[in-house]
Amino acid sequence: LKPDLKTRYLGLDLKNPFVAGPCPLTGDLESLEALEEAGAAAVVLPSLFEEQIEHEELEAHRLLEFGIESFAEALDFLPELGTFNSGPENYARLVVRARERLSIPVIASINGHSPGGWVRYARRLEDAGADALELNAYFVPTNPQMSAAEVEKRYLDLVAGVRAQVRLPLAVKLGPYFTALPHFAGALKEAGADGLVLFNRYLHPDIDLDTLEVVPRLELSRSLEMRLPLRWIAILHGRIPLSLAATGGVHEAGDAVKLVLAGADVLMLASTLLQHGCPRLTRLRNGFAAWLEEKEYRSVEQAKGSMSRNHCPDPGAFERANYMKALVSYTGRLV
Ligand SMILES: Cc1cc2nc3c(=O)[nH]c(=O)nc-3n(C[C@H](O)[C@H](O)[C@H](O)COP(=O)(O)O)c2cc1C
Repeated sequence: LKPDLKTRYLGLDLKNPFVAGPCPLTGDLESLEALEEAGAAAVVLPSLFEEQIEHEELEAHRLLEFGIESFAEALDFLPELGTFNSGPENYARLVVRARERLSIPVIASINGHSPGGWVRYARRLEDAGADALELNAYFVPTNPQMSAAEVEKRYLDLVAGVRAQVRLPLAVKLGPYFTALPHFAGALKEAGADGLVLFNRYLHPDIDLDTLEVVPRLELSRSLEMRLPLRWIAILHGRIPLSLAATGGVHEAGDAVKLVLAGADVLMLASTLLQHGCPRLTRLRNGFAAWLEEKEYRSVEQAKGSMSRNHCPDPGAFERANYMKALVSYTGRLV
């Protein structure tokens, strides 16, 4: 009997847990179609950045000011504002087109770091027909005066601000650097989140030794990285009523299986698709289904979370005690 691959994420019924995560492939209509063809259950579009939105607001404001000073000219000018060729408007168009061309859910993504007027663009994306919204919250605290509680509050205000704008299901994509993630996850739920996407993979800047410049370096992930979401999804599963998406290091079918056993509702793929192309998704989905079948799981729902901290025979394995075992497994002894 073939296992039932259906899963639920953010209240959406998905045909399997494989989602194309935000990356350049999901920003292009042709590759979006190829991803659907390959079996993706949903797609997350690349993020629209707070800076892009604010830039447009500034430009629009300038035009309006100009308009007030010379009213006659403004009359000719203002109608064009509606079709202003801008980041947010282009993005909303991408949402509309993706919805027209695909039959799977289309999740829009906004990247933001500060609460502000820009969050009302979330509604624009809801109006454009997005099935859900992912808030890619990226904030690197550098101020020594700012406490962990203040950092968390900033995220919570951001989530509450977006939630006040939309009724759409809302996922929050977080970085891994939180002191007390389970508590914070509960607070995010209270602020209006429906799910977490774990984790945002920060791009750490590098120093170019020839030019002595700080440069961004984009490198694709490796399978090993999935252990980070694996641990935290296993710890969170079944304890806070939030959907859980795993992102980071899913390259093989086995990576996907492990994350679902830990409790992930969906797996988001980026690097492996960029490396091998959209058909890679079919291969992962088939390998995943074959594993479930071989181990006689009837469904994804049956497998989901069966190795989470709540359910696995050795919950301590996800905690610190494991460190000693790991050391012994590496060196063959403790010291
Ligand atoms: C080229 C590239 C562009 C990306 N753009 C976005 C983005 O716009 N928004 C976002 O939330 N994540 C973005 N990501 C992060 C991925 O969605 C994903 O979370 C991360 O790469 C880890 O997953 P992976 O190991 O499958 O690559 C991007 C990743 C890559 C490699």
